[in-house]
Order: sequence, then C-alpha cells, then structure tokens
Amino acid sequence: MTAVASEMNLYQARMRVEDLRAQIRYHDYRYYVLDSPEISDAEYDELMRELQELEARFPQLITPDSPTQRVSGQPVEAFGVVEHRTPLLSLANAFNYDELKAWYRRALGILEIESFPLVCEPKIDGLAVALVYEDGRFVQGATRGDGFRGENVTENLRTIRSIPMRLLAKDVPPRFEVRGEVYMSKTAFERLNEERTDQGQPRFANPRNAAAGSVRQLDSRITAQRSLDIWVYQLGWADGPYPPTHQETLQWLQDIGFRVNPEIGRYEKLEEVERHYHQWVDRRHDLEYEIDGLVVKTDPFQYYERLGVVGREPRWAIAYKFPPIQATTALLAIEINVGRTGSLNPYAVLEPVRVGGVTVSKATLHNEEDIQRKDVRVGDTVIVQRAGDVIPQVVGPVVSKRTGREKPFVMPDRCPVCGTLAARPEGEVMRYCPNPSCPAQAFRWLTHFVSRGAMDIEGLGESWCYVLLQEGLVKDPGDIYSLTREQLVSLERMGEKSAENVLKAIEVSKNRPLGRLIFALGIRHVGSEMATLLASQFGSIDALAQASVEELATIPTVGPRIAESVHQYFRDANNVRVIDKLRRAGVRMAEEVAPAPAEGPLAGLTFVLTGTLASMPRSKAEELIRQLGGAAGDSVTKKTDYLVVGESPGTKLQKAERYGTRLLSEQELLELLRQHGAL
Ligand code: IVH
Repeated sequence: MTAVASEMNLYQARMRVEDLRAQIRYHDYRYYVLDSPEISDAEYDELMRELQELEARFPQLITPDSPTQRVSGQPVEAFGVVEHRTPLLSLANAFNYDELKAWYRRALGILEIESFPLVCEPKIDGLAVALVYEDGRFVQGATRGDGFRGENVTENLRTIRSIPMRLLAKDVPPRFEVRGEVYMSKTAFERLNEERTDQGQPRFANPRNAAAGSVRQLDSRITAQRSLDIWVYQLGWADGPYPPTHQETLQWLQDIGFRVNPEIGRYEKLEEVERHYHQWVDRRHDLEYEIDGLVVKTDPFQYYERLGVVGREPRWAIAYKFPPIQATTALLAIEINVGRTGSLNPYAVLEPVRVGGVTVSKATLHNEEDIQRKDVRVGDTVIVQRAGDVIPQVVGPVVSKRTGREKPFVMPDRCPVCGTLAARPEGEVMRYCPNPSCPAQAFRWLTHFVSRGAMDIEGLGESWCYVLLQEGLVKDPGDIYSLTREQLVSLERMGEKSAENVLKAIEVSKNRPLGRLIFALGIRHVGSEMATLLASQFGSIDALAQASVEELATIPTVGPRIAESVHQYFRDANNVRVIDKLRRAGVRMAEEVAPAPAEGPLAGLTFVLTGTLASMPRSKAEELIRQLGGAAGDSVTKKTDYLVVGESPGTKLQKAERYGTRLLSEQELLELLRQHGAL
C-alpha cells in the first residue's frame, strides 16, 4: 500500500480511481489498437498497480468494467475476429524478490503444501499469438486481442518460417492450440529501421512495435518481408492427452516441431529462481531479442485449477520484471507542447543519450507539479528512464552534480503558441489554453478528429490537416464535411485520385458509431472507452448535450470531473457551432438501433446483456441471439424485452428495474438458446 492510498478518503479515492481508469483505458487503446504506446510498460504497470491498491482498500469502488476486472484491448475488425476457446490471460508482475515470495507463499497457502517446482522462462517482448492445429496442420492463428477475441492473422503467420505448417509427429491430439510470442530480433529491427529511414518512412520505436506492426498488416506480402520469429511458451488447450507438467509439455512441443526457448529452467526452490533472475538482469543484453523479465510458472498442471485466476491474471504464474533501464544526461531546456484539449504539456529537451540501445533526446515531464515534486531544474544532470520502451521519462535530478547555475522551471502563464493567458481549473494539475481558435489546438483537434480511433478519415493525415488549416480551408473539424473536390485538387501534391479517395473517406466517416463521434469531439477527460460508455447511456448527442452534471455523475465511472467537463463542453458556443456543422453535413448523431431480422423464433425481441457470463463471452451470446432473429442492444431502454443478468451486473440492472424489464439469468438464456437449437 502506498502512503498516498492509505491517507485518502473515499471521495479522493473515487476521483483518483476514475482518473487511473481513464488513463489505463487510453493507454490500452494506444497499445493494443493503435500499436503506438505513449508510455512505458513500467509506467503502465504503475498505474494498474495503484488502481489495484485503491480498489483493494475501497472495494465499493470496484465496477465490472474496471480495467482490473477484464483482459484489456480490442481487436481490429478488418482482420476478422477469432473467439478464443479459452481466454489468453495476462500476468501479474513482481518487481522485487519480496513480491515474488509473496506470490509463492500465497500459492502455497492455497494449495496447503510446503513447496512446488517452478519453471522459469525469458519473458519475450513481442506479440502474443494463439496457433490452432488440426490433424497436425496449422489451421488458424490469432492475436490476443482483448483476451477473448483476437484478430485472425493466419495468413500473415504462415509467412513466419519458424511456425510449423505441419507437425513432425503423427500421434498429436486431433485439435489443440499452442501459444507463443512472435518477435523481431534486434538485428532485424535495426536493419528494418535503416531501410525505413532510407525510404523516408517513420521508424519503429522498438522491436515489439515492429513485430506487432508486421503481424497486423492487412497485406501478408509485407509480413513476409519482415524477419519474424516465434518462441512457443504454452499449451492453450488440447482435445487429447498431453503431459502432466509444464516443463514436459514444452519438451513435447519442441519434439513435435515447435520452437521452444532453450533458456528455460526448472527449479525446486524459489531461492534458485532468484539466483537465476540476477544472472539474467545482466545477461539479457547478450540475447538476440528483447526480454523484459522472466516468467515464473508452476510446473505441475494439477495445481492450476485450484490456484485459479484473479481478474485477468492466473495465480499459477507471475512475471518477474527486470529493473528499468536508466541513464544520466543534461537537461537542456523544458519546452511546452499544446495538446488537443489545449493542455500545456511540458517536456524535457535532453542532451542526446543512449538508453537501453535507443538514443533519447526528449522525455515527458507530465505537468508542472510533477516538475516541482521532482525538483527538476534546467541545467540539471537528470536520470532518464526507458522502462522497456517508447516515451522515456525523467526520473529526477542528480542533486550532487549541481553547480548552482541550474534554473528552477517556471510554467509560462501564456499559451506558447497563441499567447492567450492560460487557465488552471480548480483541482486540476494541468494548465489549459482557453483560446478555441489557438492554431495549436485547432491542429491537435483536427488530427485527433480524423485519427483511427475517432472518425477514422483515411488519407487525411497530420500533414494534410496542417495544410488545410494553413490554406484556411478548414478552421475546425466541422469544416471537413464541406470540403469540395475543387478545393482539394487545388492543394499542392493532392492529385485527382487522392482527392477522390479523401472525399470518399469523409463520406464514409459520417456513419461512424456514436461513441466514435463523442471521442472525436475531443472533450477533456473523455477517452475512447468513456465515449463509448456515454454513447450507450445517452443514445444521442442531443441527449448527452442536455444532461445535467448530476445526471452524468450518476453513471458509474463518470466522476464529478468528467461530468463537469462534458457538461461544460456543450455549453461552449464554439463547440455547439462545430456540432451544428456536423449535424448539417449529415454526420450520424445517434446510436443506430440494429433492426431485428424478421425471421427466427426470437424475432421482434430485444435483449440486453449485463455482467459477465460464465459460459461464453457476451459477444458470443449476442451473436447467438441475433442468429435466432432477436436483437441485441447496448443499453436498456423502454423497448428492451429482456435483460440477461450475468455475474457482477452493471447499472443496466437498475435501469431495467426502473422500466420493469423482464430479467433472465444466464441459465435461462442458455435454455432458451438450446430450446431453439442455437447451442
Ligand atoms: S505465459 C497466463 N510465457 O507476456 C500466462 N507469456 O504479460 C500467459 N510473454 O501476453 C502467458 N513471454 O505475450 C508467457 N514465456 C512467456 C512469455 C509470455 C512473453 C508475454 C505474453 C503475455 C504477456 C503477459
């Protein structure tokens, strides 16, 4: 328990929990959907850990949709979705020996035994995949996705030489699934980045992103050109016998043709694991691929069921993470970046330094409080950390190196781009530029609006957004929809064909789901998941715009800060004008109610599901309902006929009670589906 958590009252904890959840969801989206994380794994783990601690202390704040309660991520639809027969879990982390011991002791306590053997493996920093074999042939490969549903990347995985298409042995189970990590070696990564630089393409931040980006290519010819490899580390499931321990299973997998990492060891005692770990902290750099820790697993499968799974993490395994990679360098300046909501984000300009094999010249400093808390001064020698990847952070100054000439940082009180006096709303750590026509904000908002997770207007990347603003063709996102062919063609380097494609993409974007539009509006503190939640609760922009702060705050996970921000957003004349433009252009402003097919035994009936089902993911149940002609809705309305109530139901249950909607248990739903032959 951190000191901070133990001093908080319920109200403060609620605020912090909401804030952490919003941050985690945003970073999940960057990581899993966009393959473009903004923070390091260590920072992410820290957010998750703080949330877990707060939820442990204030269990009343746990909601079913908290990131701690589910496997995160969302599959990209373009690939086709694969339902995993058993979920792909993630791992809890231990950052030191005490935490590893605590994990082991807890397992011993549950099993009521004195000790059990452990298997230790390198934790490969790549992309998890699940490979299905039928009669010894590779038939399907999928990414992890949200753990329940992944993307079908079979064709791309076929291009990886170390994934066997046919197995060596004949006597294998008729159908089984193995799991492993696809990765790119350090040399292949360097080579790829060099080529990309030569061709004027952006570089990948690290081998993991390069591997993920390569596997998730819609054109498998591109995947085939990338040097990818796999280490297989787990049996997912099997219709047939397999060995009784993890180590023997890995040996068996190797014998039948899979690539299993040679650096795997089995230990009787935890102290041996600790010794092994210390050797690896140094040796990791000798490997041809990146690892960010060890995975410690219980060897005998007989214990797995009793140990079970908490949230999304099994108790039979744990990731024993390596300490983050650090370096020291000079802090040359602190500069300000203007975010899309007008937030003034300070960042450090550094004397370039190699940290964990990557040259770092900029690092985040989050906000002015963070700078003050760390007492970072311009001219300081600072410790920079790249905890595994991407955006590095400044840990703090090396005070002993101070000369007295360092300058404390003073946050500018004006927006560095438009010069407007910046405001710091009460209770917020950020300052914001309040000028709606600040060029920096307009640019950020525009690029956010057209981005993949928002309205996804293909062909309008950052550079075109810049040109459109410069040329005065667009002042805000509402203007995108009145762009004409002539205007586009008049732009330098925009050909007839590209203009045609951009116009098509703009047209297509008019029909994006409501949640995407809400996200695209760039409401402060509203990330993509929050936007989806608001869409399902309110059903239309108008209903959302009319909601009072109190009404908004009754929704779980919407705290006072978010409620206030949403309410304010729709009271701003400039925002109202943009929304009007969007409406006039024909952008969809309400959730589409899926029309129920007229055929089938459930035709004319609308079902809504809440909570977790034990027998299948909710999406699967919804699909079966649709197969029988029923409709599956997102939110309970007066028109909902049945609410199917799973474990830990959400607020939909209260709503259903208010409307007098009929309730169905999971058992009743299964019976209904069975009765009509869907099961
Ligand atoms: S076991 C529940 N073994 O780490 C067990 N995972 O944080 C789940 N990973 O999604 C997987 N190396 O992508 C396992 N030797 C290894 C691993 C490994 C890398 C990744 C995997 C997983 C993530 C969990």
